[in-house]
Amino acid sequence: MRRLRGSAAVRSLVQETRLHKEQLVYPVFVIEGENIKNPVQSMPGIYQYSIDRLQEECCRIRESGIRNILIFGIPAHKDEMGSQAYDENGITQRAIRYLKAHDPDFLVIADVCLCEYTSHGHCGLVDGCHILNDETLPLLVKMSVSLAGAGADMIAPSDMMDGRVAAIRQGLDAAGFYETPILSYSAKYASGYYAPFRDAAHSAPGFGDRRSYQMDCANAKEALREMEADIEEGADILMVKPALAYLDVLKTASERFDYPLAVYNVSGEYAMVKAAAANGWIDEKRIVMENMLAMKRAGADIIITYHALDVAGWLDE
Ligand code: PBG
Ligand code: ZN
Repeated sequence: MRRLRGSAAVRSLVQETRLHKEQLVYPVFVIEGENIKNPVQSMPGIYQYSIDRLQEECCRIRESGIRNILIFGIPAHKDEMGSQAYDENGITQRAIRYLKAHDPDFLVIADVCLCEYTSHGHCGLVDGCHILNDETLPLLVKMSVSLAGAGADMIAPSDMMDGRVAAIRQGLDAAGFYETPILSYSAKYASGYYAPFRDAAHSAPGFGDRRSYQMDCANAKEALREMEADIEEGADILMVKPALAYLDVLKTASERFDYPLAVYNVSGEYAMVKAAAANGWIDEKRIVMENMLAMKRAGADIIITYHALDVAGWLDE
């Protein structure tokens, strides 16, 4: 076996998986207000920007060669119905308009979920302690149509309500957005790895947890049923989330489905690497590139990651 490991040239010749900038998606947090660039405490290198400061981030993204952005808006006002989520002039709608005007070459993917916009922090409407499914669907549809109207190139529902992909597909078509693809967070697990994100997006649930709608981390076959359902409902791209603790699910999905497959290398995965690197316990570049290749090897076509700009820089070296 060592004959093919003897030099960098031969190793590169037989390298089975490769990473390209085109496959990376960079999440961006946009917050209501002016002149804001807030560091996210648990995610070194990640900031919340107000729209008037977004230019700086846009330049960094463009210079890195990354073109794909996943946008998260943080509204100033939250209510029971998450009404800022589907407001013409909501923070996310305005941010998308800004991004598309600033650089039409950016591919802007809009996360669709109510948790950043609801006073209770849940991804759907609530009745007492119960998270309502079918009552939530029309709001997700309204949000999707509104974000597509603002210029989003792709709609990414992350709420985990049943039937949302079908409802959103129908709603987008009825509004004339036939050509807007749906990237579905199909297999989204109830995970401790989202904790830093909830600081970044102010979306922690006010009571209880998300286990009645997000998946149980003990289950893999169920993830395939979620994906089958999303395909039937009209999803264009499937996602597994989080990434590294769920590579088995990703691998099986890549063998089972002939669909583009995305994986979300989430906030907690990022935070762990950053913390260990800051302590000098690991080599950040090496660990991040190893993680990226692990996701590719397991079958990811698309990687959503907070490391995207750093990875782009390392790919250039
Ligand atoms: C909204 C949403 C979450 C993430 C992406 N979209 C949080 C959650 O479900 O609690 C997590 C992303 C991350 O941790 O990086 N539903
Ligand atoms: Zn949510």
